[in-house]
Amino acid sequence: MKLGVNIDHVATLRQVRRAALPDPVAAAAIAEMAGADGITVHLREDRRHIQDRDVELLLRTVTTKLNLEMSLAPEIVARACAFHPHCACLVPERREEVTTEGGLDVRGQLAAVRRVVRRLERAGVIVSLFVDPVRAQISAAAESGAPFIELHTGVFARARTEGARMRALAALQRAAAFAHECGLRVNAGHGLDYHNVHLMHQVPFVEELNIGHAIIARAVMVGLDRAVRDMAALVHGPVPMGQGAQKP
Ligand code: PXP
Repeated sequence: MKLGVNIDHVATLRQVRRAALPDPVAAAAIAEMAGADGITVHLREDRRHIQDRDVELLLRTVTTKLNLEMSLAPEIVARACAFHPHCACLVPERREEVTTEGGLDVRGQLAAVRRVVRRLERAGVIVSLFVDPVRAQISAAAESGAPFIELHTGVFARARTEGARMRALAALQRAAAFAHECGLRVNAGHGLDYHNVHLMHQVPFVEELNIGHAIIARAVMVGLDRAVRDMAALVHGPVPMGQGAQKP
């Protein structure tokens, strides 16, 4: 699996003081050098962390790929089409939430989602829909024309008992298999950390994990380079025999 590093919280720290530092653009470069396969930022309607200036600079400096998390709001869709990042993930957005709370209700607003997917794809952006691991949402995602979904792993990550965690893992496994049957490609993320991420290797067809909070929280203690390297090792998994072997 690949690792997309969400750097929103670097911008959160900057915005607390309305200062210039820490700069998410510098953070993206460090994350890429430490093994990130992509950089994710959420351009929120209220611009509470990532600013337009960040996206503009990241588009010029990120050497892997930039994934823009975004709502369906017309102003944000217009900005995204102008930015044309490598990919975009459509998420629901509420001002009062501290982070994205649930998956996008694709089934309930299929026509609107389909219009946004079409607009972004015309602008050359690969679209993914952030959905709960629920069949009705996944089949709607396939109908929308988006090539990817990102499965919401929040219920799995928040599970407090082993039984609850295994049930949530089984739901993700079924959802990923169903998405694959529907012709969708699969990413996943939300709430994943250094202790639960290894179980994501048991979910079939997942190509990429998007992880933010756990990495930035660890980075405060040990530095961003180390925090990304540790997570990349867990996400990339063991190097297969014959690949990457060191000569004695
Ligand atoms: N994927 C999506 C769609 C998200 O909205 C977020 C949170 O910004 C994440 C992944 C990363 O979640 P976390 O910060 O809990 O790792």
